[in-house]
Amino acid sequence: MSGFEEVHGRDESWAVRDRAAHSRSVRAMFARIARVYDFMNHLLSLNRDRAWRRRVAALMDAGTGEVLDLCAGTGDLALEIMGAGKGTAWIAADFCPEMLTGSAGKPGADRLLLTAADAMVLPLGDGCVDAVTVGFGVRNFADVRRGVEEIARVLRPGGRLLVLDFFRDDPRGSGQARGVAAPLRILLNVFVPLVGRVVGRDGSAYGYLSRSMAAFMTPTEFAALLEEHGFTDPVIDRQTFGIAHIVAARKKERS
Ligand SMILES: C[S@@+](CC[C@H](N)C(=O)[O-])C[C@H]1O[C@@H](n2cnc3c(N)ncnc32)[C@H](O)[C@@H]1O
Repeated sequence: MSGFEEVHGRDESWAVRDRAAHSRSVRAMFARIARVYDFMNHLLSLNRDRAWRRRVAALMDAGTGEVLDLCAGTGDLALEIMGAGKGTAWIAADFCPEMLTGSAGKPGADRLLLTAADAMVLPLGDGCVDAVTVGFGVRNFADVRRGVEEIARVLRPGGRLLVLDFFRDDPRGSGQARGVAAPLRILLNVFVPLVGRVVGRDGSAYGYLSRSMAAFMTPTEFAALLEEHGFTDPVIDRQTFGIAHIVAARKKERS
């Protein structure tokens, strides 16, 4: 039984068609907003997105070699990691070439290995990278389990995965897993699509942000999923009132 079928209770043939359709519509949406992506990101997060990426870079192990930044978009997370002196090679992979093109001209961008690739089938060998990062990408996967399996495949044993995303608020979450307080969530759910419609001229793309969050996992659920897929030592790191979280874990060493 595929991960998609388990989660959605649908038969395999339907699920495969649905996955392809989901990927097509996500890719088309990012192609549409690629030109305004960075500007809108900084505006909608009041620049906090930069601090969240800095935190991912800070959490990465010193001595990391090859870094795969998956769902790299316009390259900001890979460039933040490079700027923090972490990693020796940086693969920036994304299935939307228009987003990757947005990295052009940024300091350090000429050292990124831009790769057009779908996270569901990565064109990389087993265990070939020391660390994988995903910034605001996992939530968009057509099949989260499949994506985590693929990440686990390309990561070397002992390597670290760091995922930054907007997870579903967890009403039972405590400590670092706590989500956003209800009044702030209501405000964000109105503010983001509104500014997206007025400034970004694409209400549907920014409405998708709230919808995809509500349909996603909580940080605790995602950490448990990583443990099911051969990861250990999960850490949840709460950012800015629980608006975003970083979930990190290490691929188990071979026993
Ligand atoms: C919200 S952007 C994040 C970009 C960047 N990581 C950042 O920190 O701003 C999400 C990116 O994930 C990419 N993406 C979504 N699903 C993907 C998949 N299955 N394979 C590769 N890229 C994917 C999209 O094309 C988009 O560029």
